[in-house]
Formats: sequence, C-alpha cells, structure tokens
Amino acid sequence: MYKIAVLPGDGIGAEITPEAVKTLKAIEKRFGNSFEFTEALVGGTAYDAVGHPLPDETLELCKKSDAILLGAIGGPKWDDLPVELRPEVGALLPLRKELDLFANLRPCVLFPGLIGASTLKEEVIEGVDILVVRELTGGLYFGEKSREKTADGGQKATDILSYSTYEIERIVRFAFNAARKRNKKLCSVDKANVIETSRLWRETVTDLAKEYPDVELTHMYVDNCAMQLIRNPKQFDVIVTENMFGDILTDEASMLTGSIGMLPSASIGGEVGLYEPSHGSAPDIAGQSKANPLATILSAAMMLRFSFDLEEEAKLIEDVVRNIMKEGYRTPDLMEKGKTLVNTVQMGDLIAERILKS
Ligand code: IPM
Ligand code: MG
Repeated sequence: MYKIAVLPGDGIGAEITPEAVKTLKAIEKRFGNSFEFTEALVGGTAYDAVGHPLPDETLELCKKSDAILLGAIGGPKWDDLPVELRPEVGALLPLRKELDLFANLRPCVLFPGLIGASTLKEEVIEGVDILVVRELTGGLYFGEKSREKTADGGQKATDILSYSTYEIERIVRFAFNAARKRNKKLCSVDKANVIETSRLWRETVTDLAKEYPDVELTHMYVDNCAMQLIRNPKQFDVIVTENMFGDILTDEASMLTGSIGMLPSASIGGEVGLYEPSHGSAPDIAGQSKANPLATILSAAMMLRFSFDLEEEAKLIEDVVRNIMKEGYRTPDLMEKGKTLVNTVQMGDLIAERILKS
C-alpha cells in the first residue's frame, strides 16, 4: 500500500490533478496495486482557506506519505501578498527544501505524434530525448534576500547566490548516474566565464568526471545552451545545471516536446518524492477544462518509477500517452488541423480507459 498526498493547488491544478489520480486508479485496477490518496490544501487556495499557503497539516501529511502529487500553485490573486505568504515562496520552495528534494528531473521527450505541434521544424526536433537534471534546493532561490534604501532615495535589492561543493557534488553525481543509464553523455551548464559559483561548479564537475570515465562530459555556458537547445537539441542526452538556469532552460526545452503541457517533473533526493508538471497554474485558462493533464499524468508515471519502483506500470502510462497522441486526440495547447479536440476530463478518461483495456 502506497500513501500518496494529493495537492491540487491553484488554477488549473484543480483540473489536472484529478486526471492523474484517475490514471493511478486505473493502474491500481489493472495491476492490483493499492494506493491511498489523501488530499490537502496548498498555495493560494490554502491561503484563502486557512491563511497560509503551506499549512502545517499539509507539510505533516507530505512527510508521512510515500509520494506527493502536486498540481500547480500561484496566480495573480496572490501576487501582492507579503513575499513569505506568496504561494511560490511560502509553499513550493519550503516544500522542496523541507523534504530535501535537491534533484529535479525534467525529461523532454518528443512523442512522435506531436511532431507537428511544436513551433520548431520537424527535422530539428525529431527524436529529441533529453533529461534535464536541475538542482532544486540551492542557488538564488534560497540565498539571503534583502532590501535597503539608497542615498538617492531609491532602493537596493540583493539576492545571494551561493553553492557549496557538497551541494554541487550530490546533484552532479545524480546526473552522471542518470547518464550512465542512457546514452552516456552529460552536458554541464554554467556561466563560469562570469560567475564564481559557476567556477566552483565547473571545477567540481571536472573532478567528479574522473570517477565516470565511461560518460562523455562537456561543459557549456548557459547562454550558448539556450541557443543550442533550439539550434540542435539532438546533441543533448543529459543536462545538469543549477536551480535558476534549470528553471529557465526547461521552459525553453518544453517547446521541443510540442507544449509545456507535456513536460512532467520529479523532485527527488529526500525520503518522499514530489511529482508535478513543470508548468504553472495557467490562471488564464483555469476553470474551462482546456488544460492539458498529460504533464501531470506523466509525472504520476515518474512517481511509479522513482518512488515505488513500478517500472511496468510507469511504462504503460507512457505508452498509452504515446498512442493517444498518435491517434490524434489533442487538448487545445496541442491542437492542429485534422486532429480531435478533447477537454481535460476527456483526455483523462481516454488514458484511464486505455490502461484498463490494455
Ligand atoms: C518551476 C516553477 C517554479 C520555479 C515557480 C512556480 C516558483 O517555475 O517549477 O519551474 O521557479 O521553480
Ligand atoms: Mg519554471
């Protein structure tokens, strides 16, 4: 019996999360596993209900669960709250930190049926299969922040960027090991020509590389990487990078898969893994059943793989998604001429139905 904390959160989170739960319930039926789902409040929705975006009960529930399924958090409604009460800073970052989820895995895989849905040329993206390993509990996101008044009547704001050898080593080892199980190519992304943390990053990576002679290591500056991802994404196998660079590069890389609505993520490293789509709460389309639930459904597959070691079950979800894409079912973000438009719930129903029939 696996205990899963379900945190739908804000905006489209409330629509996509139930579709992932539906998928997991279909898996339960099909394979005879047993999942126990417990829902809790997080984000702006939690703030509205109880005055804090990460209520104690939610954190407690997460800590005693085997895995967490999160929808999305944040929205314009809560943008003007004091910073510590904003959903991102008050809930998502503390969750990542408290649970020691330092490794964020974002697989950017182009499902063949979606080749026409991307804004990029087919020959550039055909066969793209990149794993981005993003450091998730350090860097600018967690450095000390401050404001002071300046003599000219303005202000000065400071965000400290720091990384220790320990923090770099553990994420880079993770990436080397992931590369070993794939095509044995690792690209470490930094800005070592300018930033001191990046210089330590590069030195640490270079030292560690001696332990992984079977993995081909390259270093790339982050600006160049942003360009190379669009110019020739097939050169990449595994990318490892620090928190902020990883945030930016994965939004960019998601377009290689057709839509950011296709990009799942797993945040692991601590005792409990957290699984969430890489996209945000999309307040502009919330409540309209337009959201693509596949990133969340694919995140649930990652949960089965990484937290529960249920590889066959995980693969079935991925295969079903691939087939449904081939058959031409599309949520609006992926819609092209000649395809069949479905809403959020219909997409979830299709996935569950196919799992049960398989
Ligand atoms: C992500 C998101 C978050 C991040 C936001 C919501 C704080 O953009 O998971 O990529 O920046 O890490
Ligand atoms: Mg992001």
